[in-house]
Amino acid sequence: MKIIMLGAPGAGKGTQAKKIAEKYSIPHISTGDIFRANIKNGTELGKKAKEYMDQGLLVPDELVVDLVVDRVGQPDAANGYVLDGFPRTIPQAEALDKALEALGEKVDYAINVEVPDENIINRMSGRRACVACGATYHLVHIPPKTEGICDKCGKELILRDDDKPETVKKRLDVYHDQTQPLIDYYTNKGILKEVDGTVDMEIVFKNITDILGE
Ligand code: AP5
Ligand code: MG
Repeated sequence: MKIIMLGAPGAGKGTQAKKIAEKYSIPHISTGDIFRANIKNGTELGKKAKEYMDQGLLVPDELVVDLVVDRVGQPDAANGYVLDGFPRTIPQAEALDKALEALGEKVDYAINVEVPDENIINRMSGRRACVACGATYHLVHIPPKTEGICDKCGKELILRDDDKPETVKKRLDVYHDQTQPLIDYYTNKGILKEVDGTVDMEIVFKNITDILGE
């Protein structure tokens, strides 16, 4: 099962993608997490990506596409995967389709998690992420058991650099401009599924599994 998560920054793509990956035993591939790991490890890719990410801009397509095409070709992705944060532009979607077509494969579902802009800023300012394992929390909605500490691995929780309100506004503009057109792209392919992302995360997940099946 090959799944793409679509949605504005903070819509809950990562939260749902992790649950999907666990339930269906497929890898969760988040380009944002890959970039953040590279930034943390001080790689060349990380240095380049950080320049764009800190401004709320997209990393150029050429730095993303090969990385993802390579990742989905790894053995653990043979039975499918859930892509979170990719594709984010029409050229990225076309590049993915082309790479899959060459393998005789295709994307099965593009799930759009819908959350209006008004809800997003509040969500982002409350989000805390684990520097080590990538688990995410929300100060109000999904608080960790001990303040500032990850329940899963015991490491420190941080506010992402790009979750400051002014950067979130920029990310929303970039989303509407460059990523939202993918909704039409996947609608035209007949694989777009919409879910309401404003309800409780367990209900969002139930609605997604109703689409994907048991
Ligand atoms: P990325 O890491 O993908 O960030 P994003 O798309 O902006 O999305 P987020 O991770 O912020 O939100 P999310 O939808 O995963 O929400 P989450 O589940 O955490 O990308 C970061 C940057 O990397 C980009 O800006 C770009 O620069 C670069 N990049 C990445 N991929 C790229 C690509 N393909 N091309 C070019 N550049 C790329 O939830 C948010 C919060 O809400 C959390 O606190 C969560 O606990 C809470 N929450 C979740 N669901 C609910 C719910 N139902 N109710 C209440 N709270 C909830
Ligand atoms: Mg995410």
